[in-house]
Amino acid sequence: MTTTQSVASDSIFAVLQETVAARGLPNQLYVDRSALAVDRDRIFAKTWSGLGFASDIPEPGDAKPIDWLGVPLLMVRDRDGQVHVHHNVCSHRGRQLLDAPCRLKASIRCPYHSWNYGFDGELLGTPHIGGVNIHQSEGFDRRANGLHSVPSAVWCDIVFVNLSGDAGPFADFIAPVLKRWQKYWGDTGPEELVAGGADSRATLDVESNWKLAIENYCESYHLPFVHPDLNSFSRLEDHYEVFDEDGESFSGQGTRVYNLAEVAGTHLPRLQHWPQSLQREAEYLSLYPNLMIGLQADHFFAVLLEPLSEARTREHVRLLFVGEAAQDSAFAKAREKTLASWENVFAEDVSMVEGMQRGRHSPAYGGGVFSPAMDGPTHHFHRWVARRMLPADGSTEALAG
Ligand code: FES
Ligand SMILES: [Fe+2]
Repeated sequence: MTTTQSVASDSIFAVLQETVAARGLPNQLYVDRSALAVDRDRIFAKTWSGLGFASDIPEPGDAKPIDWLGVPLLMVRDRDGQVHVHHNVCSHRGRQLLDAPCRLKASIRCPYHSWNYGFDGELLGTPHIGGVNIHQSEGFDRRANGLHSVPSAVWCDIVFVNLSGDAGPFADFIAPVLKRWQKYWGDTGPEELVAGGADSRATLDVESNWKLAIENYCESYHLPFVHPDLNSFSRLEDHYEVFDEDGESFSGQGTRVYNLAEVAGTHLPRLQHWPQSLQREAEYLSLYPNLMIGLQADHFFAVLLEPLSEARTREHVRLLFVGEAAQDSAFAKAREKTLASWENVFAEDVSMVEGMQRGRHSPAYGGGVFSPAMDGPTHHFHRWVARRMLPADGSTEALAG
């Protein structure tokens, strides 16, 4: 098998052409053993990406280890309610600190020699470091040996991280989405949205590269063939394409006729700024790299893609509803039906996405082509990825993995 090392620049430049003439990303970026490490180093690490959910660590001291494309990280909530993300590794001999989600009392304690850290990552205790019962050591600077923290931000319950630390402010990253959806949520933004409980979550395991899930989510072309239920009230012809303005943030689609409330009787509280004339609009954005988000007048959802390998992805689905009132038991049935509706749609997509992954083992396939009328948002994502696969010096040499 060819290695990612040998992905020719030609195949990357072919992606950057006009949609009608472009090819898709080459197979190696989906099936090669090194594909995930390439994606991590060239894509994920350099931007803001979704790591997990703040509602998974609801109380002070709650902590959760997460393997982030092979990098052990942990999320922890401090006593002031702030979420921190640190590298999940002890500064002493490098044992992973947390092996499972837990509620910590006062500190993050390493199970090996019991060094302990504050929730903000500060090294607090180093038992016996200077000999038995001597907990300090001459010349050892605790302040220089705290945990390595990762820049993080919480938005719509999603915990975002920037591993390299040089992606720029999170506010700049999310600004295009806030602007796009200002027509729905006004200047208030998503403040009214509240993360649901256990009945607003789902997980799907998909045997495919994470990029294929994003690509599938970008387009409504497959709607009549793959989603007959959804298509019955939100038809292909009622959809439109969505692009960011700068080419660096998102692409997707919108519908003018989303109407689950009447179809399934899910009468939930609605966002207060949402215009009356647009009550049945909804938009679905692939927020690059690894989030699929959707906004309707009465709920928001996020599907966070956790890449497990080049060919396996875990999809974490979370729903947020409008205000604390929507969490009331009176709305339990409506919440349940809303989640069930999306679970059904996402499950229908799995077979298509897994089929595309299998197709990418074919030597007869070289990235495929795009319909300019239907696949524009998908191509938009391919171009975004392709730009990150170009050699840093812009040369036409083969890609360095
Ligand atoms: S490795 Fe953590 S205290 Fe020694
Ligand atoms: Fe779909």
